[in-house]
Amino acid sequence: MKALYFENFGDSSVLTYGELPAPIIGDDDLLVKMTLIGLNYADIYRRKGEYHIEKHLPYINGYEGVGTIIACGSNVKQFRKGDDILFVDVPFANAEQVLVPVENAIKIPAGLDKKLVASIGLQGLTADFLAHDLGKNQPGENVFVHGISGGVGQILSQILSADGINVYGATSTVEKQQLALAQGAEKVFLRNSEWEKEYTSFFDTVYDGIGSTLADSISFIKNRGKVVFFGMAGGNPPEIDFIRLLSQSKSILTGDLWDYLTSSNEREFRSKRLFSYFQDGKIQISEPTVFPLAQGKKAHDFLESGKSMGKILLEP
Ligand SMILES: NC(=O)c1ccc[n+]([C@@H]2O[C@H](COP(=O)([O-])OP(=O)(O)OC[C@H]3O[C@@H](n4cnc5c(N)ncnc54)[C@H](OP(=O)(O)O)[C@@H]3O)[C@@H](O)[C@H]2O)c1
Repeated sequence: MKALYFENFGDSSVLTYGELPAPIIGDDDLLVKMTLIGLNYADIYRRKGEYHIEKHLPYINGYEGVGTIIACGSNVKQFRKGDDILFVDVPFANAEQVLVPVENAIKIPAGLDKKLVASIGLQGLTADFLAHDLGKNQPGENVFVHGISGGVGQILSQILSADGINVYGATSTVEKQQLALAQGAEKVFLRNSEWEKEYTSFFDTVYDGIGSTLADSISFIKNRGKVVFFGMAGGNPPEIDFIRLLSQSKSILTGDLWDYLTSSNEREFRSKRLFSYFQDGKIQISEPTVFPLAQGKKAHDFLESGKSMGKILLEP
């Protein structure tokens, strides 16, 4: 089968597209022919050697995608050949065929478009746990989302708005700003503009997946507020003065999606909760950008440039 792989950590030039042996199915596995594969920031961290990656020679990146089952292991009862599934936590996804343990497979509800599901899988389940397990905001609260027009940002901000929370955010371009406003945000600021002083100690919660902005995030929350820190798209966060935090009763919460997807039950109830926002028409996201898997390098460069708006997908 064809796959996108790399042998050494480094910049996007380490990526190679070529022939590798197809996986061999086990009793509790599904063999899936990939339709669309999600590209995520974590794949960049992994390619650079800065994040956990499954041992494999050569490394194959990617943990998320949508595809069609082409074979089922002998113990599999709940799926059949020909079913379409989503997965968000299975290694070696940057390939034409992926072995999915049956417990990691997520059913795609009838009526939801496969491309949409591929565009919302991992980022959507992240937005879901950030909002419902960490933020737990109440209607009427004011929250701020950094990178509001990114993949996680678009879904997170619309989950929060749909739940009655007032969403503010920041982004880098007027185009992204208009998109976030059209998706229901109260106010969207341009990064590096002069709005920050006015919003010091204003928000109940700041959602920060940029990392380098963590000190600002802490200053934006009011006493007893919290920062939900969940990623480093803009670079590593600065050192935090915990004694100062304590003196203002400010908190930092963190979380990794994988610790919230530890069983098939969790995958099912969390994905149902996420899909319901789309089925009820409460969330609209921008069209994903699709690259052929063979052009994985271009896709990595585009994601790292910060210019993307929403999901990047790879098509085998
Ligand atoms: N904790 C978890 O379980 C989990 C799961 C998934 C993702 N994440 C994290 O969530 C964050 C967002 O992921 P995503 O998939 O939504 O990515 P994304 O679509 O690329 O969005 C990230 C946004 O960050 C903004 N940004 C600010 N500074 C940047 C910089 N120096 N370089 C690039 N972008 C910059 C960009 O928006 P503007 O141009 O508008 O500022 C960009 O759209 C990442 O840090 C990722 O690692 C965490």
